[in-house]
Amino acid sequence: MIVKLNNVIKRFQNERLALDYLNMEVKKGEVVGLLGPNGAGKTTAIKSIVGLLDIDEGSIEIFGQTQNGNNKAIRKRIGLVTQELTIYEDMTAYENLLFFGKLYGLRGDHLKQRIKEVATLIGLESRLNEAPKRYSGGMKRRLNIGCALLHEPELIIMDEPTVGIDPQSRNYILDFVKDLAHKTDTAIIYTSHYIEEVEAIADTIYIIDQGHIIAEGTLETLIAKIKGDNHILIDVKNPDETVLTNIKNMADVKEATLKQGTYQITTPPGVNILNELLSLLSPLVVNNVTNKQPNLEDVFLMLTGKTLRDGEVN
Ligand SMILES: Nc1ncnc2c1ncn2[C@@H]1O[C@H](COP(=O)(O)OP(=O)(O)OP(=O)(O)O)[C@@H](O)[C@H]1O
Ligand SMILES: [Mg+2]
Repeated sequence: MIVKLNNVIKRFQNERLALDYLNMEVKKGEVVGLLGPNGAGKTTAIKSIVGLLDIDEGSIEIFGQTQNGNNKAIRKRIGLVTQELTIYEDMTAYENLLFFGKLYGLRGDHLKQRIKEVATLIGLESRLNEAPKRYSGGMKRRLNIGCALLHEPELIIMDEPTVGIDPQSRNYILDFVKDLAHKTDTAIIYTSHYIEEVEAIADTIYIIDQGHIIAEGTLETLIAKIKGDNHILIDVKNPDETVLTNIKNMADVKEATLKQGTYQITTPPGVNILNELLSLLSPLVVNNVTNKQPNLEDVFLMLTGKTLRDGEVN
Protein backbone atom coordinates (compact mmCIF):
# COMPACT_ATOMS: atom_id res chain seq x y z
CA MET A 1 0.00 0.00 0.00
CA ILE A 2 1.42 3.40 -1.01
CA VAL A 3 -1.28 5.76 0.25
CA LYS A 4 -4.28 5.27 2.51
CA LEU A 5 -6.68 8.01 3.55
CA ASN A 6 -8.90 7.19 6.52
CA ASN A 7 -11.98 9.35 7.08
CA VAL A 8 -10.13 12.53 6.22
CA ILE A 9 -11.90 15.78 7.04
CA LYS A 10 -10.69 19.18 5.89
CA ARG A 11 -12.52 22.39 6.54
CA PHE A 12 -11.60 25.88 5.42
CA GLN A 13 -12.83 28.69 7.70
CA ASN A 14 -16.55 28.29 8.33
CA GLU A 15 -17.19 26.76 4.96
CA ARG A 16 -18.75 23.43 4.25
CA LEU A 17 -16.30 20.55 4.46
CA ALA A 18 -13.82 20.49 1.58
CA LEU A 19 -13.05 16.85 2.45
CA ASP A 20 -15.89 15.01 4.11
CA TYR A 21 -14.86 11.59 5.47
CA LEU A 22 -12.67 10.90 2.47
CA ASN A 23 -11.41 7.33 2.12
CA MET A 24 -9.00 6.26 -0.59
CA GLU A 25 -6.25 3.74 -1.22
CA VAL A 26 -3.45 3.59 -3.75
CA LYS A 27 -1.37 0.49 -4.34
CA LYS A 28 2.02 0.01 -5.97
CA GLY A 29 1.88 0.14 -9.78
CA GLU A 30 -1.74 1.23 -9.73
CA VAL A 31 -3.18 4.17 -11.64
CA VAL A 32 -5.92 5.69 -9.54
CA GLY A 33 -8.21 8.12 -11.30
CA LEU A 34 -9.80 10.72 -9.06
CA LEU A 35 -12.78 12.01 -10.99
CA GLY A 36 -14.94 14.88 -9.84
CA PRO A 37 -16.44 18.21 -10.90
CA ASN A 38 -15.00 21.65 -10.13
CA GLY A 39 -14.75 22.24 -6.41
CA ALA A 40 -15.22 18.56 -5.53
CA GLY A 41 -12.07 18.49 -3.40
CA LYS A 42 -9.52 16.89 -5.75
CA THR A 43 -6.77 19.45 -5.24
CA THR A 44 -7.47 19.60 -1.51
CA ALA A 45 -7.12 15.81 -1.30
CA ILE A 46 -3.83 15.95 -3.21
CA LYS A 47 -2.37 18.75 -1.13
CA SER A 48 -3.28 16.80 1.99
CA ILE A 49 -1.60 13.63 0.69
CA VAL A 50 1.58 15.51 -0.18
CA GLY A 51 1.59 17.23 3.22
CA LEU A 52 1.05 20.76 1.93
CA LEU A 53 -2.23 21.10 3.83
CA ASP A 54 -3.01 20.03 7.40
CA ILE A 55 -6.12 17.94 7.75
CA ASP A 56 -8.60 18.46 10.58
CA GLU A 57 -9.58 14.87 11.30
CA GLY A 58 -8.81 11.38 10.11
CA SER A 59 -5.39 10.20 9.00
CA ILE A 60 -3.22 9.80 5.94
CA GLU A 61 -0.70 7.00 5.72
CA ILE A 62 1.93 7.29 3.04
CA PHE A 63 4.72 4.74 2.43
CA GLY A 64 3.67 3.18 5.73
CA GLN A 65 4.14 6.39 7.73
CA THR A 66 1.69 8.95 9.01
CA GLN A 67 1.66 12.13 6.95
CA ASN A 68 2.10 15.11 9.26
CA GLY A 69 3.59 17.54 6.75
CA ASN A 70 7.02 17.59 8.40
CA ASN A 71 8.77 14.65 6.82
CA LYS A 72 10.98 15.81 3.95
CA ALA A 73 11.96 12.22 3.16
CA ILE A 74 8.34 11.50 2.22
CA ARG A 75 8.21 14.52 -0.08
CA LYS A 76 11.25 13.25 -2.00
CA ARG A 77 9.49 10.00 -2.85
CA ILE A 78 6.59 11.87 -4.47
CA GLY A 79 6.45 13.53 -7.89
CA LEU A 80 3.82 16.26 -7.86
CA VAL A 81 2.43 17.68 -11.09
CA THR A 82 0.40 20.66 -10.00
CA GLN A 83 -2.75 21.95 -11.66
CA GLU A 84 -1.02 25.26 -12.43
CA LEU A 85 2.10 25.15 -14.60
CA THR A 86 5.24 25.53 -12.50
CA ILE A 87 7.81 25.70 -15.28
CA TYR A 88 9.86 28.80 -16.02
CA GLU A 89 8.86 30.09 -19.43
CA ASP A 90 12.06 32.06 -20.05
CA MET A 91 14.53 29.33 -19.17
CA THR A 92 15.10 26.57 -21.71
CA ALA A 93 13.39 23.24 -21.18
CA TYR A 94 16.79 21.74 -20.36
CA GLU A 95 17.41 24.39 -17.70
CA ASN A 96 13.97 23.76 -16.26
CA LEU A 97 14.68 20.05 -15.94
CA LEU A 98 18.12 20.79 -14.47
CA PHE A 99 16.59 23.16 -11.92
CA PHE A 100 13.88 20.75 -10.77
CA GLY A 101 16.33 17.84 -10.73
CA LYS A 102 18.64 19.77 -8.40
CA LEU A 103 15.68 20.71 -6.24
CA TYR A 104 15.12 16.99 -5.72
CA GLY A 105 18.78 16.50 -4.84
CA LEU A 106 20.04 15.03 -8.12
CA ARG A 107 23.53 15.99 -9.28
CA GLY A 108 26.16 15.48 -11.98
CA ASP A 109 26.07 12.67 -14.51
CA HIS A 110 23.10 10.99 -12.90
CA LEU A 111 21.03 14.15 -13.32
CA LYS A 112 22.14 14.52 -16.95
CA GLN A 113 21.22 10.92 -17.63
CA ARG A 114 17.81 11.36 -16.02
CA ILE A 115 17.12 14.52 -18.05
CA LYS A 116 17.85 12.53 -21.20
CA GLU A 117 15.55 9.69 -20.17
CA VAL A 118 12.72 11.98 -19.07
CA ALA A 119 13.02 14.10 -22.23
CA THR A 120 12.49 10.97 -24.31
CA LEU A 121 9.58 9.90 -22.15
CA ILE A 122 7.79 13.24 -22.60
CA GLY A 123 8.72 13.42 -26.29
CA LEU A 124 10.71 16.65 -26.07
CA GLU A 125 14.23 15.38 -26.68
CA SER A 126 14.67 17.45 -29.84
CA ARG A 127 13.26 20.65 -28.32
CA LEU A 128 15.21 20.86 -25.06
CA ASN A 129 17.16 23.97 -25.98
CA GLU A 130 14.06 26.05 -26.55
CA ALA A 131 12.30 28.14 -23.93
CA PRO A 132 8.80 26.88 -23.15
CA LYS A 133 7.30 30.27 -23.97
CA ARG A 134 7.59 29.11 -27.58
CA TYR A 135 6.00 25.74 -26.85
CA SER A 136 2.41 24.75 -27.54
CA GLY A 137 0.14 24.23 -24.52
CA GLY A 138 0.59 20.48 -24.79
CA MET A 139 4.38 20.70 -24.84
CA LYS A 140 4.36 22.93 -21.77
CA ARG A 141 2.19 20.42 -19.96
CA ARG A 142 4.55 17.60 -20.93
CA LEU A 143 7.53 19.55 -19.62
CA ASN A 144 5.62 20.32 -16.44
CA ILE A 145 5.08 16.58 -15.97
CA GLY A 146 8.70 15.78 -16.83
CA CYS A 147 9.96 18.06 -14.05
CA ALA A 148 8.19 15.83 -11.52
CA LEU A 149 9.65 12.57 -12.84
CA LEU A 150 13.40 13.18 -12.70
CA HIS A 151 13.91 11.77 -9.20
CA GLU A 152 12.07 8.53 -10.05
CA PRO A 153 9.31 9.00 -7.48
CA GLU A 154 7.46 5.97 -6.18
CA LEU A 155 4.24 7.96 -6.22
CA ILE A 156 3.32 10.43 -8.95
CA ILE A 157 0.40 12.74 -8.38
CA MET A 158 -1.00 14.61 -11.34
CA ASP A 159 -3.63 17.26 -10.79
CA GLU A 160 -5.56 17.76 -14.04
CA PRO A 161 -2.39 17.60 -16.12
CA THR A 162 -4.12 17.86 -19.48
CA VAL A 163 -6.33 20.90 -19.03
CA GLY A 164 -6.47 23.05 -22.13
CA ILE A 165 -4.33 20.97 -24.47
CA ASP A 166 -4.79 19.41 -27.89
CA PRO A 167 -6.14 15.84 -28.18
CA GLN A 168 -2.85 14.56 -29.60
CA SER A 169 -0.79 15.73 -26.63
CA ARG A 170 -3.48 14.46 -24.31
CA ASN A 171 -3.32 10.97 -25.81
CA TYR A 172 0.47 11.04 -25.67
CA ILE A 173 0.35 11.90 -21.96
CA LEU A 174 -2.29 9.29 -21.17
CA ASP A 175 -0.29 6.58 -22.94
CA PHE A 176 3.05 7.29 -21.36
CA VAL A 177 1.63 7.74 -17.88
CA LYS A 178 -0.15 4.40 -18.06
CA ASP A 179 2.99 2.77 -19.41
CA LEU A 180 5.13 4.31 -16.69
CA ALA A 181 2.91 2.93 -13.95
CA HIS A 182 2.77 -0.55 -15.33
CA LYS A 183 6.42 -0.87 -16.43
CA THR A 184 8.09 0.70 -13.40
CA ASP A 185 5.53 -0.23 -10.74
CA THR A 186 5.00 3.44 -9.91
CA ALA A 187 1.76 4.38 -8.18
CA ILE A 188 -0.11 7.21 -9.85
CA ILE A 189 -2.96 9.43 -8.74
CA TYR A 190 -4.50 11.22 -11.68
CA THR A 191 -7.23 13.78 -11.12
CA SER A 192 -9.50 14.93 -13.86
CA HIS A 193 -12.97 16.08 -14.63
CA TYR A 194 -12.76 14.48 -18.06
CA ILE A 195 -14.54 11.16 -18.08
CA GLU A 196 -12.79 9.87 -21.21
CA GLU A 197 -9.39 10.40 -19.61
CA VAL A 198 -10.19 8.55 -16.46
CA GLU A 199 -11.81 5.76 -18.46
CA ALA A 200 -8.67 5.48 -20.57
CA ILE A 201 -6.05 5.63 -17.84
CA ALA A 202 -7.28 4.41 -14.48
CA ASP A 203 -7.07 0.89 -13.06
CA THR A 204 -9.25 2.06 -10.19
CA ILE A 205 -11.62 5.00 -10.35
CA TYR A 206 -12.71 7.07 -7.37
CA ILE A 207 -15.59 9.44 -8.00
CA ILE A 208 -15.49 12.42 -5.67
CA ASP A 209 -18.29 14.89 -5.09
CA GLN A 210 -18.49 17.51 -2.33
CA GLY A 211 -15.41 16.13 -0.60
CA HIS A 212 -16.71 12.60 -0.40
CA ILE A 213 -16.02 9.46 -2.42
CA ILE A 214 -19.39 8.45 -3.78
CA ALA A 215 -18.22 5.43 -5.76
CA GLU A 216 -15.06 3.46 -6.40
CA GLY A 217 -13.99 0.50 -8.47
CA THR A 218 -12.89 -0.48 -11.94
CA LEU A 219 -14.73 1.01 -14.88
CA GLU A 220 -16.59 -2.27 -15.33
CA THR A 221 -17.72 -2.55 -11.71
CA LEU A 222 -18.83 1.08 -11.64
CA ILE A 223 -20.86 0.70 -14.79
CA ALA A 224 -22.32 -2.52 -13.48
CA LYS A 225 -23.78 -0.51 -10.61
CA ILE A 226 -26.19 1.00 -13.07
CA LYS A 227 -29.16 -1.22 -13.28
CA GLY A 228 -30.59 -2.11 -16.64
CA ASP A 229 -29.37 -4.00 -19.65
CA ASN A 230 -27.60 -2.68 -22.73
CA HIS A 231 -29.46 -2.56 -25.95
CA ILE A 232 -27.56 -2.64 -29.19
CA LEU A 233 -29.37 -1.85 -32.41
CA ILE A 234 -27.78 -2.82 -35.71
CA ASP A 235 -29.35 -1.93 -39.06
CA VAL A 236 -28.21 -4.05 -41.99
CA LYS A 237 -28.96 -4.07 -45.69
CA ASN A 238 -29.19 -7.85 -46.13
CA PRO A 239 -30.49 -9.48 -42.90
CA ASP A 240 -29.72 -13.16 -42.34
CA GLU A 241 -31.35 -15.62 -39.92
CA THR A 242 -28.16 -17.71 -39.51
CA VAL A 243 -26.33 -14.64 -38.21
CA LEU A 244 -29.19 -14.12 -35.74
CA THR A 245 -28.76 -17.68 -34.46
CA ASN A 246 -25.00 -17.11 -34.07
CA ILE A 247 -25.64 -13.92 -32.12
CA LYS A 248 -28.13 -15.70 -29.87
CA ASN A 249 -25.44 -18.28 -29.10
CA MET A 250 -22.95 -15.70 -27.81
CA ALA A 251 -22.18 -16.04 -24.11
CA ASP A 252 -23.14 -12.51 -23.04
CA VAL A 253 -26.27 -12.17 -25.14
CA LYS A 254 -29.51 -12.31 -23.15
CA GLU A 255 -31.80 -11.79 -26.08
CA ALA A 256 -31.55 -11.13 -29.80
CA THR A 257 -34.23 -10.36 -32.35
CA LEU A 258 -34.35 -9.44 -36.02
CA LYS A 259 -37.08 -7.14 -37.25
CA GLN A 260 -37.24 -5.27 -40.53
CA GLY A 261 -33.49 -5.32 -41.07
CA THR A 262 -32.62 -4.35 -37.48
CA TYR A 263 -30.96 -6.72 -35.05
CA GLN A 264 -31.74 -5.80 -31.46
CA ILE A 265 -29.36 -7.40 -28.99
CA THR A 266 -29.66 -7.24 -25.21
CA THR A 267 -26.70 -7.81 -22.90
CA PRO A 268 -26.30 -7.49 -19.13
CA PRO A 269 -24.90 -4.18 -17.81
CA GLY A 270 -21.13 -3.72 -17.90
CA VAL A 271 -20.26 -6.01 -20.80
CA ASN A 272 -19.04 -4.88 -24.19
CA ILE A 273 -19.46 -7.35 -27.03
CA LEU A 274 -19.46 -4.92 -29.91
CA ASN A 275 -16.26 -6.23 -31.49
CA GLU A 276 -17.39 -9.85 -31.46
CA LEU A 277 -20.78 -8.82 -32.78
CA LEU A 278 -19.31 -6.93 -35.68
CA SER A 279 -17.20 -9.91 -36.67
CA LEU A 280 -20.29 -12.14 -36.67
CA LEU A 281 -21.99 -9.53 -38.82
CA SER A 282 -19.10 -9.24 -41.24
CA PRO A 283 -20.89 -11.08 -44.12
CA LEU A 284 -23.60 -8.39 -43.97
CA VAL A 285 -23.65 -4.76 -45.02
CA VAL A 286 -24.07 -2.77 -41.80
CA ASN A 287 -25.77 0.60 -42.18
CA ASN A 288 -25.88 1.78 -38.60
CA VAL A 289 -24.96 0.66 -35.08
CA THR A 290 -26.42 2.20 -31.94
CA ASN A 291 -25.00 1.07 -28.63
CA LYS A 292 -26.87 2.32 -25.61
CA GLN A 293 -24.35 1.02 -23.09
CA PRO A 294 -24.26 3.14 -19.93
CA ASN A 295 -21.01 5.00 -19.30
CA LEU A 296 -19.23 6.66 -16.41
CA GLU A 297 -21.20 9.85 -16.98
CA ASP A 298 -24.38 7.83 -16.37
CA VAL A 299 -22.86 6.45 -13.15
CA PHE A 300 -22.18 9.97 -11.92
CA LEU A 301 -25.59 11.18 -13.01
CA MET A 302 -27.29 8.32 -11.22
CA LEU A 303 -25.35 8.90 -7.99
CA THR A 304 -25.56 12.69 -7.82
CA GLY A 305 -28.33 13.82 -10.13
CA LYS A 306 -25.79 16.09 -11.84
CA THR A 307 -23.67 15.89 -14.94
CA LEU A 308 -19.97 15.78 -14.26
CA ARG A 309 -18.82 18.25 -16.86
CA ASP A 310 -20.50 21.33 -15.55
CA GLY A 311 -21.95 20.25 -12.22
CA GLU A 312 -25.39 21.28 -13.42
CA VAL A 313 -28.42 19.62 -11.96
CA ASN A 314 -30.32 17.94 -14.75
N1 LIG B 1 -7.56 27.81 0.45
C1 LIG B 1 -8.89 27.67 0.47
N2 LIG B 1 -9.65 28.42 1.28
C2 LIG B 1 -11.00 28.26 1.33
N3 LIG B 1 -11.68 27.35 0.60
C3 LIG B 1 -10.97 26.56 -0.23
C4 LIG B 1 -9.54 26.68 -0.34
N4 LIG B 1 -9.10 25.74 -1.23
C5 LIG B 1 -10.21 25.10 -1.66
N5 LIG B 1 -11.32 25.58 -1.05
C6 LIG B 1 -12.69 25.08 -1.25
O1 LIG B 1 -12.68 23.68 -1.06
C7 LIG B 1 -13.51 23.03 -2.03
C8 LIG B 1 -12.71 22.04 -2.82
O2 LIG B 1 -11.78 22.73 -3.66
P1 LIG B 1 -10.68 22.01 -4.55
O3 LIG B 1 -9.78 23.05 -5.11
O4 LIG B 1 -10.06 20.92 -3.77
O5 LIG B 1 -11.58 21.38 -5.71
P2 LIG B 1 -11.15 20.64 -7.05
O6 LIG B 1 -11.88 19.36 -7.09
O7 LIG B 1 -9.67 20.60 -7.14
O8 LIG B 1 -11.74 21.60 -8.17
P3 LIG B 1 -11.16 21.98 -9.66
O9 LIG B 1 -11.59 20.88 -10.57
O10 LIG B 1 -11.87 23.26 -9.98
O11 LIG B 1 -9.69 22.14 -9.55
C9 LIG B 1 -14.14 24.13 -2.85
O12 LIG B 1 -15.41 24.45 -2.30
C10 LIG B 1 -13.18 25.29 -2.68
O13 LIG B 1 -13.84 26.52 -2.80
MG1 LIG C 1 -8.30 21.32 -8.46
